[in-house]
Amino acid sequence: MRLIRAENYKDMSRKAANIISAQIILKPDSVIGLATGASPLGAYEQLVRWYQKGDLDFSGVRTVNLDEYLGLGFQCPQSYRRFMYDHLFSQINTEPSNIHIPSGLATDLEAECRRYDAVLRSLGRIDLQLLGLGCNGHIGFNEPEDEFRKGTHIVHLSDSTRKANSRFFDRMEDVPTGAITMGLFDIVQAERVLMVVSGKEKANALKDAFFGPVTPRIPASILQFHANFTLVADTDALSLL
Ligand code: F6R
Repeated sequence: MRLIRAENYKDMSRKAANIISAQIILKPDSVIGLATGASPLGAYEQLVRWYQKGDLDFSGVRTVNLDEYLGLGFQCPQSYRRFMYDHLFSQINTEPSNIHIPSGLATDLEAECRRYDAVLRSLGRIDLQLLGLGCNGHIGFNEPEDEFRKGTHIVHLSDSTRKANSRFFDRMEDVPTGAITMGLFDIVQAERVLMVVSGKEKANALKDAFFGPVTPRIPASILQFHANFTLVADTDALSLL
């Protein structure tokens, strides 16, 4: 693991955006795995600024998103599909056919999981996978379980994850109870993994995930085995080390 210390959220976001940008410059048709939520937002804003200045070209980039809430589609502001269009895709020149996000609206969810696994197979290995870290150690929506889950699957969201994500919804009851997520196989198969972590509320999860035992009860801990894993974390997130 390569640990890059950042002063704060802004510094973390710029450092992460630099790494993503270098990846796209070095390999313009990169497959980039993308996350949603507060953690990558600052990096996306920076990438958009660089694109607007003419420093970045996303026309060849292929993207795969990690996850989506069940029951939420583009019309819903809290859906991850909408998040990605609002904060990134509508502001850069990614080809729509190169954007891949699992659907939480599919009537046959098992078929949707298999379809998404097939999409991932057709793209080949992910060149750079961007991740945030859940307060319970989840990555994507791979929640703490008794085993590491390999392929795309449906999850029941834990109370702690629903509570943490309720900040994006008007009422707790509106937070979906389920999600579809890429499994850990494709995440750990990625050529390079980049995680951004900010804030004191993540300090425990960060310490447990990367400085404790590898266990499916803390899904992110599997990244300790990854040969090219970069963690960009700010002072608050590193405060328990
Ligand atoms: C979202 C995702 C999640 C988040 C995690 C942290 O696509 O994959 O694992 O990265 O829940 O969320 P934030 O960044 O909002 O604290």
